[in-house]
This record gives sequence, structure tokens and C-alpha cells, in this order.
Amino acid sequence: MTQAFVSLKPGTLLAPVPAVMVSCGRAGEKPNIVTIAWAGTVNSDPPMCSVSIRKSRYSHDIIRDTGEFIINLCGEDLLQATDFCGVKSGRDVDKFSACGLTPAAVEGFAAPAVGESPLYLACRVKSVQELGSHDLFLGEIQRVGVKEELMSADGGIDFSKARLVAYNHGTYYQLGRALGFFGYSVAAPDVLKRRMEKLK
Ligand SMILES: Cc1cc2nc3c(=O)[nH]c(=O)nc-3n(C[C@H](O)[C@H](O)[C@H](O)COP(=O)(O)O)c2cc1C
Repeated sequence: MTQAFVSLKPGTLLAPVPAVMVSCGRAGEKPNIVTIAWAGTVNSDPPMCSVSIRKSRYSHDIIRDTGEFIINLCGEDLLQATDFCGVKSGRDVDKFSACGLTPAAVEGFAAPAVGESPLYLACRVKSVQELGSHDLFLGEIQRVGVKEELMSADGGIDFSKARLVAYNHGTYYQLGRALGFFGYSVAAPDVLKRRMEKLK
């Protein structure tokens, strides 16, 4: 028997979400990193991402003024730094230096990527929408950088090596066991067996 739903007040209970380090910076100034959970993929062609940032964040005005931000994915090794960049402000701390992170130059961008991140998406801001508590920055992805060790022989990306982290209402998790693949529910038995073996 299905159980009844309890009705709650409207809230942001979508889960899990990513926890990413968004780097930004003005030319000639120290770059900054802000941790963002309200980040998403919003379009394939052109490839676009969004980040929602409160006006009070030091990073907010930097991203608004420079029109660029870089999303750096968070692997398990980067989690402490990711959390730190989400509780300290660049107004008070040089977060690259405090976390021992390396600014990595991205062609055409004033902001650096986080050199220790497995993958970055460098975005140019296309629009900013004031939503209320947060401003939504829509960005077109202009450059993608992937760590060499994640690249497989067939030119694909082996994301399992990145040990990515997900965020679920205040708690960080490492992505666990692979359970299936796109279309697995309708895959032919031999394909299903072969692909699932590969995912183990
Ligand atoms: C896991 C996590 C997720 C966060 N997600 C967001 C977010 O989506 N938007 C936002 O404005 N702040 C978010 N924050 C808070 C900012 O990262 C935090 O206020 C940070 O210190 C701001 O840095 P800044 O002042 O250097 O920009 C998050 C913090 C954590 C720890």
C-alpha cells in the first residue's frame, strides 16, 4: 500500500545537487572561489550552465562586472577546500592560497580555473536575472578543461576516476556504485550484460 504524502511548505528540496567551486576574478586582482550548490545545466546547443548567487557574496559583483565564471567540479580530494570556499569570503581570505590551490590560466578568461579540479567549464555570462534571494547567472560554456588522467583511449571521459561529490541538504556524499546507464531499461540483454560488466 502506498503511504500518504505529508504536505510541507514550498522549499528548495531538489536533491541531490552538485557542489562546485566557481572561480572568478578581475584582471590584476587576486582571484576568488565561491562554492555553489545552485548550479545546473540548462541548454545543450549552445552549451549553457547557470549559477545562482546571492548579491551579498563577494563573488557576485566580480562575476557581474567581468561577465565570466568558471565552474570547477569537485572530486573527493577537493571537498575540504570546497567546503572552506563556501564558509569563508574572499573579502577576508585569499582562498586559493589558504587552500593550497593552484590558479590555472584559461585562454581568453581573466579568471583562472582551479588547477586541482578534475574538470572545468569556463562560461561567459549571457544574462543575469534577479529572482529574489539569488541572482541567476546564465552562462555559455566556452572552454572545457579535463584532467588528462580522466581521458580514456576512445576519447571519452572516465568520470569514475574523478570521484565526484554530490550535495544533499547539508551533507556531502561521494557518488556511489553505478546502477545503470542511459537507456538500460530497454537495452538488449547482451548489451545490458556487457555494459553493466564495464560499469562494475
Ligand atoms: C555546499 C555549499 C553550497 C553553497 N551554495 C551556494 C549557492 O548556490 N549560492 C550562493 O549564493 N551561496 C552558496 N553558498 C555560500 C557561499 O559559498 C558562501 O557564502 C561563500 O563564503 C561566499 O564567498 P565569497 O564571499 O568569497 O563570494 C554555498 C556554501 C556551501 C558550503
